[in-house]
Amino acid sequence: MKYKTIIEPFKIKSVEPIRFTTREEREVLLKEAGYNPFMLHSDDVLIDLLTDSGTSAMSSKQWAGIMEGDEAYAGSKSFYRFEAVVKSITQMKHIIPTHQGRAAEKILFSIVGGPGKYFPNNTHFDTTRANIEFTGSEAVDLLNEVGKHPEVRADFKGNMDIGKLEAFIKEKGPENIPLCMITVTNNSGGGQPVSMQNIRETKDICSKYGIPLFIDACRFAENAYFIKLREKSYENKTPLEIAQEMFSYADGVTMSAKKDALVNIGGFLALNDDELAMKCRNLLIVTEGFPTYGGLAGRDLEAVAQGLLEVLDEHYLQYRIRSVEYLGEKLLSVGVPIIEPPGGHAIYIDAKRFTPHIPPEQYPGQSIVCELYIEGGVRAVEIGSVMFGKYDKQGKLIPAMMELVRLAIPRRVYTQSHVDYLIEVISEVYRKRDELKGYRITYEAPMLRHFTAKFEPINQ
Ligand code: F0G
Repeated sequence: MKYKTIIEPFKIKSVEPIRFTTREEREVLLKEAGYNPFMLHSDDVLIDLLTDSGTSAMSSKQWAGIMEGDEAYAGSKSFYRFEAVVKSITQMKHIIPTHQGRAAEKILFSIVGGPGKYFPNNTHFDTTRANIEFTGSEAVDLLNEVGKHPEVRADFKGNMDIGKLEAFIKEKGPENIPLCMITVTNNSGGGQPVSMQNIRETKDICSKYGIPLFIDACRFAENAYFIKLREKSYENKTPLEIAQEMFSYADGVTMSAKKDALVNIGGFLALNDDELAMKCRNLLIVTEGFPTYGGLAGRDLEAVAQGLLEVLDEHYLQYRIRSVEYLGEKLLSVGVPIIEPPGGHAIYIDAKRFTPHIPPEQYPGQSIVCELYIEGGVRAVEIGSVMFGKYDKQGKLIPAMMELVRLAIPRRVYTQSHVDYLIEVISEVYRKRDELKGYRITYEAPMLRHFTAKFEPINQ
């Protein structure tokens, strides 16, 4: 390419206005929300980085697909289009639609899980972990060491620790491990990719002990593009070819289409094992719906099929990965500490280094999240001791391993000037970091407290 500017590879046909508020209004709104941005109305948010899940902008072809959707209860033509596209990418024998990723997880683990069983992963996403633990099984994270250090730069910080995986299988016994998972990219570890070599090595270990390998494929296209950019001998392959090779090592796939299928709702389970597929379909009928729609409308299946084709376009992936990286680079250039290198779908601010004067018991990530909203109407999410903190027997907080703030970037939604605005807002909050205050929790639910907790600032 002759020109270095990477442009958004689309024109905008339909726009959705965003609402501006004043700083004074935001101070009142945030207080009313109990200093928890989850409780804000989205209309009061200028730039919403709460999640990249279900927040994508659909293309004109996807919207056309919505009109084309065949709403037949059984045997819908939209299902067959969806099935053909998912098969062409995953090469799996059985394609089972679900309403979102966690529905696929629920069905899978209800069948293969149970007390006394173990499920290793590079890092389980919260819903995967919850669905495993709900059956009485144990979910185990075996991320390689480099992935645990935010400030260390490496190409594939999402990789599984192969040595630990083999030791774990030997310790627990392969008969107690119904399947092994690998999450691409590793959301909970900073959106970091997994290399093809690591997927292959994980498969080799699994095969040695007769354990099926499953891929949590939410962000498979972003992972494929990182492989193209960073792994030797993949630079001339297409993202589709790379994705096909990734899936060739797997025996099954769980997918939240709300990420890399560029839709607002949807998911699937893809499997090779005939008997397992039959059991999953039987459960699907009870919990989701008939196997040719699985909790979705025919039009949703059309949108997923089209989105899966679009997400593998190289111009799209180049723009996607570069725009997240651009945000990361600019933040680093003004000194903002983030997980390095930037991930595929999000930038993760390292709150421990951003506000070292706020101890974990006073939730430094929450403090930054609140300030980002007040300063610029930006909504982010704390991933630290609010989300993962536990209490010991004396009621003292056991902090999370890391104190992070996730800035998840919705796909095809914001333009470069939105990103430049974000950089200004975050830089300003960083400039005033010494003035940021800690928070205390005034209400919390017994489970998943981060969604509904209420806070108040601590005024020393
Ligand atoms: N696996 C991963 C790696 C995810 O990131 C998610 C969702 C799921 C599974 C569950 O999929 O939401 O469709 O049921 N992640 C969202 C997020 C919620 O904000 O990161 P789902």
